[in-house]
Amino acid sequence: MTGPRPDPASIDALRGDLHEARFTVDAVRQLWGEGADAALGRGHRTAARRALDALPASPLATLCRAFLLGMGVTPDELDAALPRLRAAGAFRLGLVDEEGSPLVDLRPYEFVDAQGAGRWWIASDLGELAVGGALREDHVLGIGGASTTLASIMMPTPVDTTLDLGTGCGIQALHAARFSRRVIATDVSERALAFARFNAALNAVDGIEVRRGDRFAPLEGERVDRIVSNPPFVITPRRAGVPTYEYRDGGLVGDALIESVVRGAADVLTPGGTAQLLGNWEYRAGEDGLQRAAGWAQRAGLDAWIVEREVQSAEQYAETWIRDGGTRPGDPAFDDLLDAWLDDFTRRGVQRIGFGYLLLRRPAGRPRPVRTERLHGPVGGALGAHLAASLLTMDTLAALDDDALLALRLRRAPDVTEERHYWPGDSDPTVIRLRQGSGFARERDAGTALAALVGACDGELTAAAIVAALADLLDADAAALRAELLPQVRELVADGMLLLPDDPGYA
Ligand SMILES: C[S@@+](CC[C@H](N)C(=O)[O-])C[C@H]1O[C@@H](n2cnc3c(N)ncnc32)[C@H](O)[C@@H]1O
Repeated sequence: MTGPRPDPASIDALRGDLHEARFTVDAVRQLWGEGADAALGRGHRTAARRALDALPASPLATLCRAFLLGMGVTPDELDAALPRLRAAGAFRLGLVDEEGSPLVDLRPYEFVDAQGAGRWWIASDLGELAVGGALREDHVLGIGGASTTLASIMMPTPVDTTLDLGTGCGIQALHAARFSRRVIATDVSERALAFARFNAALNAVDGIEVRRGDRFAPLEGERVDRIVSNPPFVITPRRAGVPTYEYRDGGLVGDALIESVVRGAADVLTPGGTAQLLGNWEYRAGEDGLQRAAGWAQRAGLDAWIVEREVQSAEQYAETWIRDGGTRPGDPAFDDLLDAWLDDFTRRGVQRIGFGYLLLRRPAGRPRPVRTERLHGPVGGALGAHLAASLLTMDTLAALDDDALLALRLRRAPDVTEERHYWPGDSDPTVIRLRQGSGFARERDAGTALAALVGACDGELTAAAIVAALADLLDADAAALRAELLPQVRELVADGMLLLPDDPGYA
């Protein structure tokens, strides 16, 4: 199967039919019910199939049966569900075979970004549920957790040209097209590119150009202003019998694929251009994984902000990706694969594997020290906008010396709250914690002086005046208090918990 074919007239007909059938996330959930919908999310389709069996025939039910559950429908049912396209047109587009059996997964997808709410239909290969077993090595992934993660952190700042490296079904290219004049979507897989082309056409999104090739090769020396990539970063043992899924495995040893993408980004970004990647990094014996990732950016001469979201043990990591390929514990192949993964990790002394986001920028001048954060908890919303605003703030902050920073009238961000814990009966808190409501939803422990400073930052007094008043109040040495608070104030400003006067949220 070569993937869907984007015949323009047939795609227009399909779009019209999907609209008319109300093939939306909400309508589908309502059709088979919350329970069946949740069961599908957990990887079981029986409840959804039973719900459809009990319902009268309808275009929506046929679309769900065929393209969400991957079950055969008759050409007559398809004719009724897709009155403009008809079964023959669905066959022409490569969505079904001659008998009406689905060849692709096609589903509604909804999102909210800085431009508002959006709604698309996304085609990809049929998933594990539909094929009833392990996936093909050239499987083209639909929208998964990593896809929505990258989409949610994309900075909405307008740019001219964006590269979506490893576009798969094209989901990141579609998102990037909302803030880019032009998107170059690349992949090693011709089938992936067929899906990306198809999805762009189906959703009438212009400006996406697809190119085939390894990592940055398709650019042929061209520069881009932004890179977005959910690259094939899964660490995979190089041993016969271990499947090498194109959608997750870039063919290199350990975490070398991500390192190579970081290095390549430095060569193709225009000055000031930014890259947003997801990736894994290995914690090898005696080496902190997050600092290892920071080292890649440093050596590439890039500004970088790397946020670690999760760390797994070598064993957990191996299990996750063996299961992802459709092999479960209890299957003899599971133990063989686990041995292969653990041997591979042992060879490099890997004990744990980190996962997170890399935000890179090609600096106009000398690169800044890499910022790393471990933020393993739940995050708030609007991360893309938060990252974009934070980049600007970090630039302003870097240009302010301590006196200039203290001369500003800082303001506490409106989403910051304070939590205090006391031993029963005590009047002094044992813990004061500042919490951010949006963005990364950070928590920062604060001493009495810092909490009081944040409380007083309402835009009336300069930070210097607040520190001086606090020194009086707490009977502390003013210079020592200033030296203690300054780095913490810088951190809170960089976090977006204290706002600079030029911040859009300051007023
Ligand atoms: C994890 S998938 C991401 C798909 C999609 N962008 C998303 O976010 O859902 C990685 C993609 O990278 C592609 N890929 C694998 N090796 C590659 C390489 N060496 N160069 C470029 N793309 C590659 C795969 O075919 C796959 O489509």
